[in-house]
Amino acid sequence: MTTTYAVLSEGLEKRFGEVRALRGLDLAVPEGTVCGVLGPNGAGKTTAVRLLTTLLAPDAGSARVAGYDVVREQDAVRRHIGVTGQSTSVDVELTGRQNLRLFAKLHGVRGAAGRGRADELLDQFGLLDAADRAAGTYSGGMRRRLDLAASLLTRPRVLFLDEPTTGLDPASRNQIWAAVRALTAEGTTVLLTTQYLEEADRLADHIVLIDEGRAAVTGTPAELKARIGAYAEIVVASEAALPQAAAVLDQLTGAEPQLDALRRTVGAVSMDPTLTLPRIVRELDAAGVPILDAGLRPPTLDEVFLRLTDSANSRKELVT
Ligand SMILES: Nc1ncnc2c1ncn2[C@@H]1O[C@H](COP(=O)(O)OP(=O)(O)OP(=O)(O)O)[C@@H](O)[C@H]1O
Ligand SMILES: [Mg+2]
Repeated sequence: MTTTYAVLSEGLEKRFGEVRALRGLDLAVPEGTVCGVLGPNGAGKTTAVRLLTTLLAPDAGSARVAGYDVVREQDAVRRHIGVTGQSTSVDVELTGRQNLRLFAKLHGVRGAAGRGRADELLDQFGLLDAADRAAGTYSGGMRRRLDLAASLLTRPRVLFLDEPTTGLDPASRNQIWAAVRALTAEGTTVLLTTQYLEEADRLADHIVLIDEGRAAVTGTPAELKARIGAYAEIVVASEAALPQAAAVLDQLTGAEPQLDALRRTVGAVSMDPTLTLPRIVRELDAAGVPILDAGLRPPTLDEVFLRLTDSANSRKELVT
């Protein structure tokens, strides 16, 4: 069976004056999956979403969304997508219900069909009780859910969510996550950007780490973690022993160790699958480093991200 891609881009480039926001972004999101686009501030996430949703034209490269070209077939692309941007598009003067009915009208879902779909979504997002209050009185999480509901009025095949949970409390974040899972269960393809590695880890089938406008690394959350190996952490007996412990870890892992003076810990990501805890302890012992505790655990995605973008940067340095 051949894979059908809901989002497929090749060499997307976008410049804003001197700033090269995207420098050849390749993406391939199979239909019915969730793609998590991760990256630090300014990496180019929002720019990518704006290009893929036809809000901006690329300077170079091409992209197809739901099978349509984002430059030559803009109308068709727009008919098949939903978008929730980084800032909410809710009208604070209107009630939740009025907001959704207005969106329905704007998107050509008219009359009883529009009203019915609006009520269905209010229910699905737990907004029925607040449906007839002005959206201006909603909490941040409620507004974000209303926004998400609005982007679903047309039952899009591909949904773009730009940092859907930034600034939300854990309960609201869970509601958004549940909504995204429910959508994918119905076959919707979701491309979401996020700065939260945990979010990508929980929701995404595939993760794309964007660094300086390019996909630095791609893979499933498990693959990314496997490429890193393990995180070694040592608790030393005194602050004075931190540099010694760091030197030993540096030698064992080849990665620059992270020091935490307050917790008296030194940690480093190891890519070496043969590195064992006994070996770490032996080496520390041989170097005369007084330790209280040592451990080897799976890395978090944060650590994976730092390590992989670091090595992507050093590759670039080698090339130039
Ligand atoms: N309209 C614009 N005019 C000028 N520069 C822009 C414009 N839009 C984006 N940029 C620049 O392009 C780069 C990428 O921005 P983008 O908004 O895509 O990043 P991002 O990954 O979404 O960041 P964040 O996590 O902060 O939302 C940044 O350096 C930004 O300043
Ligand atoms: Mg952004």
